[in-house]
Parts: sequence; structure tokens; C-alpha cells
Amino acid sequence: MTNPLEPPVRQRGRASLDFLLHFGRGTQGLRGEVEKDIARVVPDPEKLPQDIDQRSKQIEQRLMASPLWRTQALIGEWNARNHGLIAREAFEEVRADLDPVIARYQSQGATTLEPAPEGTEPPAYFEGVNFHRTAGGWEDHEMQGYIHGEIVHRKLVNAFFPGGIFKQRRAVAAMAPREDYKRILDMGASTGHFTQALQETYPEAEITGVDLSLRVLEHAQRIGNAHGWAWKLYQRPAEDTGFADASFDLVASYILLHEIPADVIRRVFAEAFRVLEPGGDMIMSDVTRYADMDKLSVWRADSNARLGGEPYWRESASLDLAEVARAAGFVDVSAQGIYPHVVKGHKPK
Ligand SMILES: C[S@@+](CC[C@H](N)C(=O)[O-])C[C@H]1O[C@@H](n2cnc3c(N)ncnc32)[C@H](O)[C@@H]1O
Repeated sequence: MTNPLEPPVRQRGRASLDFLLHFGRGTQGLRGEVEKDIARVVPDPEKLPQDIDQRSKQIEQRLMASPLWRTQALIGEWNARNHGLIAREAFEEVRADLDPVIARYQSQGATTLEPAPEGTEPPAYFEGVNFHRTAGGWEDHEMQGYIHGEIVHRKLVNAFFPGGIFKQRRAVAAMAPREDYKRILDMGASTGHFTQALQETYPEAEITGVDLSLRVLEHAQRIGNAHGWAWKLYQRPAEDTGFADASFDLVASYILLHEIPADVIRRVFAEAFRVLEPGGDMIMSDVTRYADMDKLSVWRADSNARLGGEPYWRESASLDLAEVARAAGFVDVSAQGIYPHVVKGHKPK
């Protein structure tokens, strides 16, 4: 499906985005060489400390002797600091062309967006945290939803996932056990990429999305309107949605859970259970579980999370989501897959 909100990037923006992409691809050889240095300084990974902080300290102290690892770390840091700024500059370059398109899809269409009531305080675990080390923070730029959704996500992240970011989302949406859902809730809908996969998989369903960030929801609204969909979007926390009991027959999420602390994840599952009708289904997907990784892979994931501005990744990835789902009351619980790791459950009738 064509994307009416596609950014018409100009020469400078295109060149810097291409640079980021080629830089990412071009340093794959370096990563291969760094792996050889890692194997040299960690000959027996199973002997590494159990504690992840001690493990990281030990590995990183030994790797300080590797110029290749230091170079890779520097590139990672450069990328983390600059990708958002580069995306923002590419947007500013074409902003005048985009403004009318953005304004049209913001205001015309059947997708609605209800911001949080004035004076609502965001939860402490969210407020002021620089997730993803986004340039200027998550809510700072009034077009952050567009910049994140269309430029960072569709143009940059999309290029690094085999088959693209929508293929994975559609595959997860199709894993729910039924085909006839009528009322679906997408938790952590963000700019609407999984919401779109749910809509395309269950075209007859009424789709509702919640997210804490107004900026990303504004872009989800544009996406919904541009495609003629009638999503209902709310700036509300997934753990306290305010919907009546039994409002939905499917509650779903795609990579929301690594963005929130473990105690909030438990509340999110409890809320999913509450708002599902008896007989309804839950399907949540997230990043690879640390329990499914060897000690070195956990170190890699954990240091990438630190670098990438993911403060809750470790505690989230350390959770057994099937256990969390059962504790919330779900039955027929299954958990499968490495990335995304998908947990499903059923609310008994
Ligand atoms: C990685 S994004 C989700 C991606 C999206 N589902 C997709 O398919 O592209 C995580 C989103 O969760 C939102 N978020 C974080 N904590 C939340 C919470 N407690 N309730 C609802 N949304 C939350 C963030 O604002 C962010 O937009």
C-alpha cells in the first residue's frame, strides 16, 4: 500500500540519511572483526560472572585493549547521538511542503485522538526519560511523531529488518487464534505501525490504540486518516486505560513491554485481562528474553540497550512473560519465538 505521508526528502536530507544507512551496513565487517577480539578476550563465556553488571565490567575492561572494539563503541555512540538530529534536519528541509499534507491528515478523517485531560501527570517512569536518546526528547519537537514514524522508523530502522518492519508486525498480528475479532485494543500503539498490521489483518474490527506520548499518537492519527481507517486513539497508560471491563475481544501489543518497568508490565497484563471480554484473547510481543540467550549475547543486548536509551530493557527482558500472563489470570498461555518473543493467552469464559 502506498504511503501518502512519505517524506519527499531533498538532496541534503537524502544524502545524510543514505550516509547513516551505508555507515550501518559498511561497518558490518568491523563488527565481524570485533567478534574475533571478543572471542579472544572471553575464551570461555560460561565462566563469565552471573551478575550482568559485573559481567559487563569484566568484558569491557578486557576489550579496552582492542582498538577495533573502541572504534565500534565510538561509532555506536555517534549514531545514538546523531540519528535523531539528522532525521530532524531532513524533515525541516521539506517541512514547508509537508505542512499542508500533515495538516490535512491531522484534521480530516474518521480516526479520533483524545489527549490526556489537562493537568494529567505522566507516570514517573516515563516523564523526563530520554527514550531512544531521541534528539530533544520524545515530546520536545511538535512533529516528533512524524519524524520518528516516517523518517527514523520507516526509512532507517526498516532498512535493517529483513523484509521490513511491517512484515514482522503482520506476522504477529496473524498469530492471534481467531479471524473474527470485532474490538481490538493496541497497547503502546505509538505511530500506528502495529495498529496498521492489526487493521489489515482484521479489516472488520474496530481498532483502539493507547499510548503515553501525544506526539506519536498524532502521527498514528494521520496514518489512520490517510488510509481511511476509523481508529480511536487515546493518550492513556496501558496499565490504566480507563475502558470498561470486557470492552475488547483482542488485546495486543508490539514491543511496548521493554519500554516499561517490570511492576508496570504486570499491571499491563492485569489491565489487558480486565478489559477483555470472557473468551477474549491476548497477544503481546517483545524483545528476546535473556533466559533464551547465552551470557555473551545478554551482554551484547544489555550494552546496546544502554547505548540506545532503553532504561527498562534489562528488567523487562529478564521477565518470564508466560508466568506474568498466568499470574494475571490468562489460561492456555504460550510463549514462543526469539525476536519478537510472542506471548499469547486466553481469558476464560
Ligand atoms: C517501541 S514503541 C511501540 C511500537 C509500536 N507498537 C509499533 O508497532 O511500532 C513503544 C511505545 O510505548 C509507549 N509507552 C511507553 N510506556 C507506555 C505505557 N505505560 N502505556 C502506553 N504506552 C506506553 C511509548 O510512548 C512508545 O510510543
